[in-house]
Amino acid sequence: MDKFVVNGPSKISGEVSISGSKNSALPILAASLLFDKKVTIKNLPRVKDIDTMLKLLKSLGSKISFKNNKKIAIISNSKKNNYFAPYSLVKTMRAGILVLGPLLAKFKKAKVSSPGGCSIGVRPIDIHLKAISKLGVKFKINKGYVNANAKKGLIGSKIRFPKISVGATENTILAACCAKGTTIIKNCAIEPEIKDLTNFLRAAGANIKWIGKRTLKINGVKNLNSISYSIMNDRIEAGTFCVAACLNGGSLKIRNFDAKIINAELEILKKIGAIVKISNNMIEVKGPKKIKNINYIKTREYPNALATDMQAQFMVLLLKANGKSVIQESIFENRFMHVPELRRLGARINIKGNKAIIEGTTELEGAELMSSDLRASVALVLAAFISKGTSIINRVYHLDRGYEKIENKLKKIGVKIKRLSR
Ligand code: EPZ
Repeated sequence: MDKFVVNGPSKISGEVSISGSKNSALPILAASLLFDKKVTIKNLPRVKDIDTMLKLLKSLGSKISFKNNKKIAIISNSKKNNYFAPYSLVKTMRAGILVLGPLLAKFKKAKVSSPGGCSIGVRPIDIHLKAISKLGVKFKINKGYVNANAKKGLIGSKIRFPKISVGATENTILAACCAKGTTIIKNCAIEPEIKDLTNFLRAAGANIKWIGKRTLKINGVKNLNSISYSIMNDRIEAGTFCVAACLNGGSLKIRNFDAKIINAELEILKKIGAIVKISNNMIEVKGPKKIKNINYIKTREYPNALATDMQAQFMVLLLKANGKSVIQESIFENRFMHVPELRRLGARINIKGNKAIIEGTTELEGAELMSSDLRASVALVLAAFISKGTSIINRVYHLDRGYEKIENKLKKIGVKIKRLSR
């Protein structure tokens, strides 16, 4: 298992360019199952979760060829009745459940492993199943598998999500876009990755319209057209680098990224004293000499608040703030796995329910650490490079799931980091 060795403290400067978005690429790759014709995808991030999704598509009969490192052509299998997504693949990447909607659209049947829980929470799929069942699907859960059957095919319906869910919104869109008739979906998630999915499907001929802030109208179409599409850039990677720049008063130009997408996070950075300059497709962030504390921030669904996928990184930043700050995690029930590890560096953080009370300013000292999930791991890397001395971060495979060659990008901007492979 690979580990990182990080020597700190370092201060960041220079430029970084952002890779394609993992969380946008995953549903778009799943969508390729809906097509009879070639789908070309560009700006694909080369991270582990994408490799897993490609393996899953291959196991479902898709032919995949790389045109270059970030561009692939996919021709999905339309003939053989292959609608089985095995546990061995879905257990390592929950987004495997996103093939449920497309498989049902294509074969009227699907057998997809239930993804189970993960380190950040229970993460059920009840909302996915309830919504898709409205399209005429019967579900049976048996031996860890979701067995789905739509004898008469998928039929448009009216759906209202009881709670905002990114994955359930994506799965339902994927099921409905080739269903018979019209589907209205209310209380949708409106994360930029969902807009990227609807843009992709629309460009391929799907009849999908946003008719309200969180309401979609989908008129099912029979076929989708061959398409070449470039995935949006990764807002969580961009946000992570913005936070990195603010630690230790660094400065960074983040190229090729639309600042509007991470407005909520940039507003918080301004409050802690960072200087944020936005120009055409570029963000320039300069960290303050003294970081101001934030009395209270809460993670929430896009667009109005801190993204849960940025919570761990902001916690590291607030360790360096002058005074006490509170972060409330409202999306996942167990997303403070980084806290015990940060404490090993000397951090003073108390957990009360879903709130973390962070005492700044803390001098951090390097230590050996354990990664637990993707965003917790990147927070440990940020904390390690502002700590004095050497830190070792174990189990960096969590990081490899969602950050493309992060150590190379960090090295270029001044972080002393190396990967030890075994
Ligand atoms: C997506 O997960 C992202 N994953 C997550 O990114 C992200 O943290 C999350 O959205 C929230 O923004 C991908 O896009 C692949 P949800 P998802 O359904 O779709 C509950 C990362 O680090 N819920 O919006 O699984 C659920 O337990 C990852 O890149 C149900 O109760 O998230 C959670 O509390 C981690 N029943 C809340 O809703 C359901 O059927 C929101 O989850 C579905 C969800």
